[in-house]
Amino acid sequence: MKRKILITGGAGFIGSHVVRLFVNKYPEYNIVNLDKLTYAGNLANLKDIEDKSNYTFVKADIADFDCIRRIISEYQIDGIIHLAAESHVDRSIKDPFTFARTNVMGTLSLLQAAKEYWESLPEKYTGKLFYHISTDEVYGALELTHPKGVPAPFTTKASSKDDMAYGTEFFLETTKYNPHSPYSASKASSDHFVRAYHDTYGMPSIVTNCSNNYGPYQFPEKLIPLFINNIRHGKPLPVYGKGENVRDWLFVEDHARAIDLIFHRGEIAETYNIGGFNEWKNIDIIKVVINTVDRLLGNSPGHSYGLITYVADRLGHDMRYAIDSRKLQSELGWEPSLQFEEGIEKTVRWYLDNQDWLDNVTSGEYRQYYEGMYK
Ligand code: NAD
Ligand code: TYD
Repeated sequence: MKRKILITGGAGFIGSHVVRLFVNKYPEYNIVNLDKLTYAGNLANLKDIEDKSNYTFVKADIADFDCIRRIISEYQIDGIIHLAAESHVDRSIKDPFTFARTNVMGTLSLLQAAKEYWESLPEKYTGKLFYHISTDEVYGALELTHPKGVPAPFTTKASSKDDMAYGTEFFLETTKYNPHSPYSASKASSDHFVRAYHDTYGMPSIVTNCSNNYGPYQFPEKLIPLFINNIRHGKPLPVYGKGENVRDWLFVEDHARAIDLIFHRGEIAETYNIGGFNEWKNIDIIKVVINTVDRLLGNSPGHSYGLITYVADRLGHDMRYAIDSRKLQSELGWEPSLQFEEGIEKTVRWYLDNQDWLDNVTSGEYRQYYEGMYK
């Protein structure tokens, strides 16, 4: 069937991988990428597919309800994959209003625009889907009950041989929401709106909550690309607190594959957690990144360890995230494709091979543009 799919946030990190996958894999679909192009959105992320006949880019703000309503009806959209968001916790601590505006009001505006358009059609909601991409951060923080780690009770291809869990609890689809940061509070609110539109109006929707992603095209304000870039320039690596916080890491292309599978085969009104049972303490992951960058740059082992700089902790810093994705694995057969060490190697190579991309997004001109938006 010829689908007309609106992907929001497609010029950002995860969205660009999702757009690329859909445009290349489904030449029979029309893919409309809608993005406001904030500091995090960069059309250079999609240079390789921008001329494909099944791809259209539209610059728009999801919170601009009239504009979104026009676009959904003009392109006769029958499926929405919603990724557009403000996504960086540190920015949300400084400027929570922007997060509420985009993540909450923007999602609501998309939901209402889709509702009005789909309800105006003779077939109404049949064959339609509003797929909302969310984060594991809405579940709050888990305790670090095993600071030295215990053998992980679950494994997938994403886990390394000596993989560790740092606690006995994991986030399940049924875990009660308990967000702590303005970012996670705004994402939690948007998730609730999506479910409310299903329960109230019958909007066919799915929500997925994924763990921390890493890979090419991630804006270098997030841990892994920031540290790769700083090592390259011999700049300090700011480790928050003691570096003991734990995150569960997934290669971005595996997230995009999960989104493809769930978009096509997921059950309406369901929630799926996405993650690879791949927990790492920040300080351990930082050492893997340093070792990989040093090796690929031809530096002696341990060359950049001296750049590690412990700094004041992030306010309200969540201690541990660990996602249980067995539902997605057992019901839809998804598995990560890469082990963590392979994913990190691919990622570091990409940033070192694409230094122009890094230099561009960290250049004065680019910074001025996005800092201007945050005045
Ligand atoms: P990102 O910050 O790299 O990209 C966000 C994109 O949204 C950018 O292209 C930006 O221009 C666009 N955008 C922002 N405000 C907009 C607005 N008002 N209107 C239209 N477009 C707007 O984010 P990401 O890391 O790719 O995350 C994408 C989605 O996945 C987000 O919803 C995020 O909450 C979720 N998520 C991210 C992670 C992660 O580790 N990065 C993990 C789980 C879930
Ligand atoms: P980040 O990449 O911002 O993702 P999130 O906050 O969504 O998990 O941060 C990952 C972890 O790394 C988090 O525990 C905070 C920590 N961190 C640092 O220690 N230093 C940094 O400069 C950054 C950006 C993050």
